[in-house]
Amino acid sequence: MARILSGIQPSGTLHLGNYFAMMKRMIEFQNDNELFCFIVNYHAMTTVHDGGLLRQNTLDAAMDFLALGLDPDRCFFWVQSDVPEVMELTWILGCHTSMGLLERSHSYKDKIARGHTPGWGLFSYPVLMAADILLYQAELVPVGKDQKQHVEITRDIAMRFNGLFGETFTLPEPLISDEIALIPGVDGQKMSKSYGNTINIFETEKELKKKVMRIVTDSTPVESPKNPDTCNLFALYRLFASAEKLEGLRERYLKGGTGYGEVKKELFGLIWEYFAPFRERRQRLSGDPAAVAEVLAAGAEKTRAVAARTLDAVKEKVGLRYL
Ligand code: TRP
Repeated sequence: MARILSGIQPSGTLHLGNYFAMMKRMIEFQNDNELFCFIVNYHAMTTVHDGGLLRQNTLDAAMDFLALGLDPDRCFFWVQSDVPEVMELTWILGCHTSMGLLERSHSYKDKIARGHTPGWGLFSYPVLMAADILLYQAELVPVGKDQKQHVEITRDIAMRFNGLFGETFTLPEPLISDEIALIPGVDGQKMSKSYGNTINIFETEKELKKKVMRIVTDSTPVESPKNPDTCNLFALYRLFASAEKLEGLRERYLKGGTGYGEVKKELFGLIWEYFAPFRERRQRLSGDPAAVAEVLAAGAEKTRAVAARTLDAVKEKVGLRYL
C-alpha cells in the first residue's frame, strides 16, 4: 500500500498513448493503493491560451477518467486549480529553487530548441509539479520517461527544504513504465498530440476506422512474410489482443499470406470492442456535465483537507505564521 500520485494535462483530447501510459495504470492502482489522480489545468495553461478550450478539455478529461473506471470514492480525484493550496506551496518552493536547477530541465531546453519563446510559466513548470507532488507527500509518481527528470528536480527541492527546515516532505520515487515507449501513433512516431498522430480513446466509429486504416506500414506484399517486431500495426494490436490472438498474428506475419489491410480491419474491431462498455458510460456523462462538476467539487474538498495539513506545517516552518 503506497501513496501514488500522478496528473494528466488537459491540453488536448486524450488518446491511446495517454490511456496505456497513464490512465489505465492509475485506474488499476486504485485497488490496493492510496491513489491521488488529478487533471493539471494550471500546467496546461503553459500551452493552452484559449479559455473555452481549457474548460472543455478539463471537463472532457474528467469524463474520460470516470467513464474508464476511475472511482472517486476509492481515490482522490480532482482538478488541480480547485485546490489553490498548490499555488501557495509553489511560491514557497520557488524561493528555494535555484535558476540553475530549472535551466537544466530537458523539457524546457527542448521547447526552446523547437523555437518556443519561453514564458515564466514554462520555466517554473517543474516548481509547480514539485508542489503537486510534495503537497500530498506522494511516495510513488508514475510518469513517462520524459518526466523522470521533473521528479528528480522535485526530490532536489524537497531535500533542500528538509535540510533547511527539518523533515517536512516525503521524497518521491518516479515509477517508469517501459510500455510507454511502445505506443506508436499512426505515423510510427511516439503517439503524441504535438505530432498530430493520435488515435483518441473515444473516437466515432467512422473516425476510428479512418485512423486505423491510415496507420503506416512497410510495403511488403500480402503473400510475403512480415516482421512483427518492427511493425507499428503489430505494436498497437498487442495492446488490445489476448495472448493467444497475439501469438496467432505473429505466426501469420512470419508465414506470409496476411495483408496489412486485413490486420487493420481486425485491429479496428478490437479497439472498438475494448472501449465499448466505457463508451456508453462516457455518453451518459457527456449528457450531465453538472453531475461531473459535482463529483469534482467533492473530490477537491476531500483533497484540500490533505493539502492543508502539509501547507500548515510548511507555513509554520518558513515563518508565515507570526503569532
Ligand atoms: N508534467 C506532467 C506531464 O506533462 C503532468 C504533471 C503535472 C504531473 N503535475 C504532476 C505528473 C505531478 C505527475 C505528478 O505529463
